This record gives sequence, C-alpha cells and structure tokens, in this order.
Amino acid sequence: MILNLDKVREYFPALAGEWTFFDNAGGSQTLKKVVDRISQFLLSSDVQLGASYTISQLAGERLALATKGMATFINANSSKEVVMGPSTTMMLKVLSMSLGQTFTPGDEVIVTNCDHEANIGAWVALEKQGMKVKVWQVRPDTLELHLADLEPLMSQRTKLVALTHASNVLGTINPIKEIAAFVHDRNAMICIDGVAYAPHRLVDVQDLDVDFYTLSFYKVYGPHHALLYGKEEHLLRLPGLNHYFITQTDIPYKFQLGNVNFELSYGMLGLCDYLSELAQLHYGDETAPDLRNQMVQAFDLISIHEEKISDRLLNYLNNKPNVRVIGQSKADRQTRVPTISFVVDGINSSTIPAKIDQNYIGIRYGDFYARRLIEYLGLASQGGIVRVSMVHYNTLEEVNSLIEAFEQIF
Ligand SMILES: Cc1ncc(COP(=O)(O)O)c(C=O)c1O
Repeated sequence: MILNLDKVREYFPALAGEWTFFDNAGGSQTLKKVVDRISQFLLSSDVQLGASYTISQLAGERLALATKGMATFINANSSKEVVMGPSTTMMLKVLSMSLGQTFTPGDEVIVTNCDHEANIGAWVALEKQGMKVKVWQVRPDTLELHLADLEPLMSQRTKLVALTHASNVLGTINPIKEIAAFVHDRNAMICIDGVAYAPHRLVDVQDLDVDFYTLSFYKVYGPHHALLYGKEEHLLRLPGLNHYFITQTDIPYKFQLGNVNFELSYGMLGLCDYLSELAQLHYGDETAPDLRNQMVQAFDLISIHEEKISDRLLNYLNNKPNVRVIGQSKADRQTRVPTISFVVDGINSSTIPAKIDQNYIGIRYGDFYARRLIEYLGLASQGGIVRVSMVHYNTLEEVNSLIEAFEQIF
C-alpha cells in the first residue's frame, strides 16, 4: 500500500502555495485540523482552568483529552506521564534543574557530541553544582554512537545518559531500546531527545523503556509547543519547580510554570485525528479498531514513503563525485530518517541554499545547533552542512526539482 500524497497534502493548507518545504527538521507545516482545534479552544473555552462554571470545566476536559491523546501518541502508560510546555529546550532545562537537585557533587552525567545543544547544555550546566559530565562521541568512520564506547564512560556514579533518538544532522536513528537496557543494567537513567525522530516514526516510550523523552510539536505538524515524558515514578519523586504550594503529586503542574498554552496542547488532538483518518483512508475495513494502532498503520505508510523519497535524493548525492553525504548513505527506514545532510568539495555550504531559494525551494545550511558535532567533524569553516529535511508530505516530483536545481550549482 502506498501513501496517497494528494490526500495527505490537502490536510496542510500551506502546501497549496508555490513553495516546496525541505526544511522540515526546522519546523514542519501545520495541519489544518490542529489550527481548527486551537481556534475552537480559544473561541469557546478560553478561560482559566479549575473553576466550577461550565466553560472552565469544558476547558479542563479539553486539556485532559489532549493530554490523553498525546499519551497515546507516545504510548505512555498514563496521562500522568505527559508534561507539555513551550519548547524542548525549556522542558529539558526544567528537567535538569529538577533532577540536578537529586544529584550530589561527584555524580556523573553522560552526553553525546551528536545531539542538538538542548540535550547537552542543560546537563553540562550541572557542572556548576559539582557534577561531572562525560561525552560519548560518534566514531569518525561510522558517524555512529557505539555501545563499546559508552561502556568505559559508565561508572558507579553515573546517574543519567542523555542522547538523541535521531540526529537532526546525520538523520541516523540510534538503537534506543538497546542503549536503554544497557544503561539500566548499570543503574542509571536515560533521557532521550526525540525531536528529530517523532515526525517520522511512531514513538513508543514503553517499548523503548526510557526514563525521559522530549519532542517538539512544531516539527510534528503542530504549533510551537513541546512535550516531556517521564516515567510516573520519576515525575512523582522529582522536586517540582513551581510555587511552594503546588504539591509534589501535582503532575504536570509542578513542572509547568504558569498557565502554559493550553490551546496549543488542545490543538495537538488534530494530529490524532489526522493519523486516524490516514489509517481509515488507506486501510478501509482493515483499519485498526483503536487510535494507537491506527497511528501504527499511519506511520507505517509514512515511513515507507519517506524511504522512497530519501532513496531518490541519496542516490543522486551518492553518485556525485564532489559531494559527501554526512550521515548514512542508505535510505533504510529502520536506521535513518529523511533528514539528509551533505557538503560539496570546494563550495562553502553557506552559498548553496540562497541559490536554491530562486526555485521556491526552502533548504538550509549551518550547524543546526548540533555545533559540537559540526566542530568535531571539522566542518565549521565550511559553513557547516547543507541540510535537506523531508517529511511524508514531500513528493518525488519535489525531490526531482531539487535535484535539477542542484545540477545548476554543483
Ligand atoms: C533534535 C532537536 N532537539 C531539540 C531541538 C530544540 O527544540 P525546541 O525549539 O522545541 O527547543 C531541536 C530544534 O531544532 C532539534 O532539532
């Protein structure tokens, strides 16, 4: 079965314009269903939660429904494991400030050199409290994280390993389930940045058995808003950062400072609606009976299509003698997402996207806040990498147009 691209694209009004969006890892286009939900909240339940009057009750019910929907989206055990807030950077900062209070000087945290800074800086900041930070590096030949390199970094004092599910530069999917088991065997916790993964593959925090997981809705077809997952036992135990009278058991509120964009949380139900409709559209009578399994069906189609468009672009780039793909060269949907980065011999990466703009195609260059990786690869002086980040609504025709545009430049 193949994804019906005409139908898919109808759900995203912005795609009817003249631009091709290939900077999706910076932010995807928004589902009309999400926008409609946000409007619905604001136009008919924009009051403070928790009062006795009917509209306040309605607002609370809507938020609860959205939280449940997002719990289903990541397969959390319950809504109590879902905290929503302004951005992944902020959620990880909140988490590190809270977790940091439970660590003692000399305790250790391991970060990688291939993460977005959001999941590095928040942990490095704990050095000021006497924590030791170690770095798990990708190997220069494979550009992958190897468990054998994590082993010697782990000690009795290791409290947490923080890494990305998929690199927003390399596109590589890290084997989180295996890594989580390894880390848990050594009595540490694991915190995953799922921002670059969640738009492409269905997250399953229970199957991965991770302690913490974050993602940003504006890369998953929604608004600028984010989610932090934590195992309930951790969220209950951790100190909150809210006012002193917000109780220890008051999840998510103890981690949410102020009234945090409830309308945007509610909007994300539009993603659930979309994934459910995608499943119904393609599977008809064979559609799974429950939302979670409809999501499984939808993401199966999504990932197959993503592999197809990645394959087209990677084939082209791999065959250009002056181009070096930075990341896996194969399109395999099990091991990479369609975030494809490359450099061109003798051409500064900064000069390429502006030339592509003229074709109404949006791509981008730089370090994408994975600065430590770009520096480690020695690519800073070359303007970093050129990144083409695709999602399921991109078409083969769009990839062909991009290839034609590249042909004019290198
Ligand atoms: C992999 C990754 N992690 C984290 C972030 C930060 O997300 P936010 O803007 O929600 O803080 C980004 C943003 O580009 C990202 O690509």
